[in-house]
Amino acid sequence: SQRPIIVQGPMPIEAEKFAQRLKDVKKEKSGTFEFYIGTVNDYPVIVAKTGKGMENTAAATAVAIERYNPIAIINQGTAGGHDPNLNVFDIVLGKRTVNIGSLKTADKDENQGIDPTEWKPMDLMASEGSAGEDPNAEKIRYYQGGKDLLAAANAVKDKYTKGKIVEGTIGSADVWNNEVDRIKWFHNKYGTSVEEMEGASAAQISEAYDVAFLGIRILSNNKVNGGKYNPNTAAANQEYVYEVVKEYISTL
Ligand code: 5AD
Repeated sequence: SQRPIIVQGPMPIEAEKFAQRLKDVKKEKSGTFEFYIGTVNDYPVIVAKTGKGMENTAAATAVAIERYNPIAIINQGTAGGHDPNLNVFDIVLGKRTVNIGSLKTADKDENQGIDPTEWKPMDLMASEGSAGEDPNAEKIRYYQGGKDLLAAANAVKDKYTKGKIVEGTIGSADVWNNEVDRIKWFHNKYGTSVEEMEGASAAQISEAYDVAFLGIRILSNNKVNGGKYNPNTAAANQEYVYEVVKEYISTL
């Protein structure tokens, strides 16, 4: 039988709009994760409402892979801008996704203080040894967006009229950064276009199971250029992702 496409959204406003577009929907739950199992153009598509954050997303991704054997996973929703050239309603296609909460601090004794700008990236997947001791773990791990998913997303770019669509780097952590200098630090060091709290965890688990993955994130806010939070962006992103899914299905 056909392997489903999974579309993940963390919050109700980031998942339910797409779920309403599915035909013949059946709902299943596992823990706090909700799966809307239906079809798009007669092809199986499952919307997963994962809840927010890295832990919920990792678990919901593993459960979905074990239960439904997906051919591809799209993690989508809202994000905050790191790039001053991106505005609220612009969309970033995750050519790369990266965990920006995986860090090792400098070596300091008591009363030597705390210096986040000295923190180094830490790659937990570098080896099976101690990430704190292994010098090879002092690097940034990027998860590459799936080629075919990225091609499908680019192919329907013109159907989106509320902003521009660019390829970029999605940074994830259970942190909401409101310090402009810290945001700039990530933008310069990691090349992040946006930040959110889920993409890299879904990418990591998808890679563990060898499932194609793409993050698609709309800016709901951008501290760097004064872009005010707009929750309507969540629905706009799902409308675009619906077009991406239809295009991807047509290539299968
Ligand atoms: N920083 C972090 N997460 C953000 N989100 C939207 N904007 C930001 C931001 N500036 C998303 C996260 C999470 C929820 C808080 O909204 O992915 O699900």
